[in-house]
Amino acid sequence: MATDADLSRAVETLRRGGLVAFPTETVYGLGADADNAAALARLYAVKGRPGEHPVIVHVGAPAQLTEWAADVPVAARRLGDELWPGPLTLVVRRAARVLDGVTGGGDTVGVRVPDQPVALALLRGFGGGIAAPSANRFGHVSPTTAEDVRADLGDDVEVVLDDGPCQVGVESTIVDCTGDELVILRPGGVTRERVEEVSGRAAGVPGDGVTRAPGTLKSHYAPETTVLVVDRDDLVPRATALLAAGQRVAVLAPVPVPPLPPDVVVLDGPADSDEYARVLYGRLREVDRRGVDVLLAVPPPDAGVGVAVGDRLRRAAGRGEGWG
Ligand code: TXA
Ligand code: MG
Repeated sequence: MATDADLSRAVETLRRGGLVAFPTETVYGLGADADNAAALARLYAVKGRPGEHPVIVHVGAPAQLTEWAADVPVAARRLGDELWPGPLTLVVRRAARVLDGVTGGGDTVGVRVPDQPVALALLRGFGGGIAAPSANRFGHVSPTTAEDVRADLGDDVEVVLDDGPCQVGVESTIVDCTGDELVILRPGGVTRERVEEVSGRAAGVPGDGVTRAPGTLKSHYAPETTVLVVDRDDLVPRATALLAAGQRVAVLAPVPVPPLPPDVVVLDGPADSDEYARVLYGRLREVDRRGVDVLLAVPPPDAGVGVAVGDRLRRAAGRGEGWG
């Protein structure tokens, strides 16, 4: 677990332009000083991410939003004051000083205050903004433990702060606050209903091809294992057919998991949507490690954080764009 000495070393590393991986309540982030262009270039290189992709600026307190935004719309102010620290990213118009390495050259910037003690200690110790995508190589599954970060990034990151597994397990909800209507660009730990309730405004979701997070690609963001999203009733027939075709099959489904043929690898089933979100990325890594050919995944009910879990499962199945 991260000690005070680790935190001091992490702050020093950021100040001299190095990279620090740190826990958040959603997933581990790969952080760089958001005001240092060279550090941002290194971040993109290590991540393996195309340059036009914007990164989220993490700050230690809601009041710091004004340091990054050209203007703060009322709805954004309300959301930040009420829901930060928390798994929510607000997209606002960028302040003039924000580097292109953060915005990907666009007019907006995403900002969030994470709800994680080590992340907050790091942010407060550092003082400035920390630009941080999820701490995986581009296209891979996001890391939810420090071991996942090391497995993916190895020696390319100077410091990895460890505070155990992430409490939410899927990335933050991204809300675009720049238009007349709020738009949920990515579902996450904060529900659409909560966004509407707190902001007092309607929140839409991107229509097909209308609004989207810049820099998302039609690419597999994925385990090596093929993921198929299926209904509970289809589990047994699908598993049986795949086994007959010589495939190594695993199943991930909310409990109670129905009885399955003996050769199926049955992963521990989550008890509810919160647990499903917490374990999802770890299970996707596990099936890769175990050399599974096909994972049959039954999504949780489409409510609360279950919306985000369903979204990530469909993306892992290659039927959507990845989140990087
Ligand atoms: O929970 C999270 O948000 C995690 C933790 C580390 O905070 N971070 C994260 O970052 O998921 P990343 O870079 O892996 O995904 C951020 C997503 C990308 O799809 C990016 O396109 C989008 O946020 N994004 C960032 N800035 C944006 C902006 N100004 N406008 C629209 N989308 C933006
Ligand atoms: Mg990511």
